[in-house]
This record gives sequence, C-alpha cells and structure tokens, in this order.
Amino acid sequence: MSIIKSNNGDMLSNKKILLIISGGIAAYKSLELIRLIKRNHGEVKCIITKAGEQFVTPLSVASLSQNKAYTDLWSLTDEADMGHIRLSRECDLIVVAPASADLIAKMAHGLANDLASTTLLASNKPTLIAPAMNTEMWRNAAVQENVATLEKRGILQIAPNVGDMACGETGLGRMSEVDEIFTSITDFFFEKPLKNYNALVTSGPTYEAIDPVRFLGNRSSGKQGHAIAKALRDAGAKVTLVSGYTNLPNPNGCTTINIESAQEMLEACEHALPVDIAICAAAVSDWTPVQEGTQKIKKTEGINSLNLELKKNLDILKTISTHKTLRPQLVIGFAAETENLLNNAKSKLESKSCDWIIANEVGANENGEEKTFASDENQIYFISQEKTEEWARASKDNVAQKLAKYITKYMEENDR
Ligand code: CTP
Repeated sequence: MSIIKSNNGDMLSNKKILLIISGGIAAYKSLELIRLIKRNHGEVKCIITKAGEQFVTPLSVASLSQNKAYTDLWSLTDEADMGHIRLSRECDLIVVAPASADLIAKMAHGLANDLASTTLLASNKPTLIAPAMNTEMWRNAAVQENVATLEKRGILQIAPNVGDMACGETGLGRMSEVDEIFTSITDFFFEKPLKNYNALVTSGPTYEAIDPVRFLGNRSSGKQGHAIAKALRDAGAKVTLVSGYTNLPNPNGCTTINIESAQEMLEACEHALPVDIAICAAAVSDWTPVQEGTQKIKKTEGINSLNLELKKNLDILKTISTHKTLRPQLVIGFAAETENLLNNAKSKLESKSCDWIIANEVGANENGEEKTFASDENQIYFISQEKTEEWARASKDNVAQKLAKYITKYMEENDR
C-alpha cells in the first residue's frame, strides 16, 4: 500500500494527540510541530512542564493548538475533573517532544511529581518520545539505561540527530527535525508499510575459534545491524536477526539467532530463507583456522613464532544474493573500507550481486577513536546501480530509519 505523505492535508483528521513539551531549547520546534499537526487537521492538546515553560510560553502553545495549554498538576479548575487522567484518556497518541533527560528518567522510574509525569504514569495510550539533550548527557549510561527501559516497555522513540547544539558543542543528542517527528506520528497511525514482508538481518562480528580460549574476531559492535533490525520491525516487517557476539540486548519483537562463527551465521541465514529482504550488516571474518585446536595452544621454549593456517569462509551475502531458488527480492550488503571507499564499495555491489551497498569507512579517526564500529554514529554512502548518495553523519538509529524508508519505497514500487 502506498501512503502519500503531505505536509498539508487531512492526514490526521479525527486523530487526537497529547503533546508533552519538556525543558530543552528544542522546545521551540514543538511550536512548529503543533502547526503541522493542526494543518493536517489533527487535534492537539499540550502539557508544558515547568522547565518547558522556560522555553515556550503557554500563550503561544494555546494560540497555535487552539486549546488550553496545561501546566499545573494542582490546578483547581483542571483537576476538579482529574485532568491528568482525562488528558491521557482523551488522546490516541502521546508525543513527548522534546523529551528531556529528566522526563525520560521520571518515565523510566515511574515518578509522578508534576502534571507531565503523572499523566504519563496514569496513561494507557501509546507514547512516542523525541529525546533532546547535550551529547554527553545522551551518552551517559544513566540516560541510555532509562531509554533502553522505555524501549523494553514498548515506548516508541524518534532517535536524536547529530548536529550543532545550543551549548556550542556538536554531536548526537539534537532533537529530530519536525518533519521527522511528524512522519513518525503518521507512521504510527497508518498501516505498517512492511507488514507483509519478512526480513533477514545479519549483525555484529563473527568469532573464529583458534582453540578453546582464543578466537579471530573484529571490532564490530553490532549497533548498526541491530538498529536496522529494529527499524524494519517498527515498519511492520517480520524480522530474523542473526547476530554474532555483541553487548547489545536482543531486540524485542525480532527473532534473534545468536551465533559465533561465520559458518554458523551462514547456516542460520540459509535456514531463515525464504525472506523478502536481506541485509548483511555483519562484519564476517573472511578467514577461519583450518583446524580448531582441541586444547589450548601452549608456548614452547625457544620458539618465537606461531603459524596459523587459515581457510576462506564462504561469503554469506553472495550466497544469499546468488541463491538459485530463494534469492530475496531485495539484497543489501555493507562495505567496510579503510581506503578507496566508493570504488571498493561499487566493486562489491557487482562482485556480490546485491542490489544496494551501504558503504562506510572503518578504522581510527585523527583522535585515535574508531570511526564507525564502536561509534553510535555513522556516515554512509548509499550505492545502487542507479545512484550513489552521500548521507549526512547521523545516529545509527537514524541511518536505520532512513534505510527502512528506502526499503519501504522499493518494496512498494517493486511489489511482486
Ligand atoms: N560478507 C559476508 N560473508 C563474508 C564476508 C563478508 O556476508 N564471508 C558481507 C558483509 O556482511 C558485508 C559485505 O559482505 O555485507 C562486505 O563485507 P566487507 O567486510 O566489507 O568485505 P569483504 O567481502 O570481507 O571483502 P574485503 O575484506 O576484501 O574488503
């Protein structure tokens, strides 16, 4: 089904949104979001937190939303009829934008000490949050754990962007743009575009055993592959994730098969076929020891080198994209390169017979930090037979959400 997204229409008619504006400079974007919802005939009521009121006024919010702006849990008039319960019962969706670190923490821990947090705790409605904060705050383990808790509870998220911050720093944490939030709202209300499709995603590194205690591995964190699995799941696809060892939790709502070696990954992928879409984001070891030692290899006095005989692993991506009977309709590979990124990536598009390649540079940046593998961000090139596009550096979640949109468009246009 094709959904035409316009920024001026009646897409949201009969839809009721409760917008919660918490404290952050990004609150100014919420005013534009209110206008966009109204222009699309949606109804929007707003709660502004005390901190939010430092950035936008109840008067501007009330004028744009054409509704009262709610600010006070202890309002005699609003709470006479239990305003905090009524506000959540009357809406179809709660959107928290911007979602500050403070409000996210309150949500994760079930605090209820103001109108916004009490309404959220008393809510029985789906909720979408658009986090916005300084990069270091976003990276803080406390925030990440709170966000993961909310994700586990089914709270939808619009991942923050990379960009300049009001504080003068640059990085991940900027609230998504208004049109991205608006698209997530409309995505929520309309049919999941990939709901009729099965997807296979590979993620993380493979470990090739040398002996019972050692292995050949690589620095892949699995963050990009897992983010893609989640974005496809959110678009409605039935996702099988085949993952090497990572520190990430298995995503909710996906069938995850945890493997170690390239051979195990290959077998799990072949077992998952047929699928409609395959995305090979894993960093698969090209080589594996000819023989895995049954005992730990010991040092020998006087011998200062060790020869490991390696054999080539089968190429999983190529095996899938050249499958005689079960080739998925869309096969996407990654190219991790330290040099000649575009040329090498384009050669992989041909040699591996896939439809698209997502190319990214790997290795250390000028500060000695890993550019791609361990990072939360990615800068990629999208390469198909028809075009090469450079995508702006963004969070891996953002890259995944954009890729899911490209996949949706492709599947709509090439529906078999
Ligand atoms: N890949 C795979 N199976 C392998 C090797 C790679 O499925 N045995 C896939 C990766 O998941 C990725 C793509 O092939 O989608 C390219 O992987 P990359 O590591 O960039 O390239 P290689 O094929 O390993 O080639 P090289 O190491 O020579 O760059």
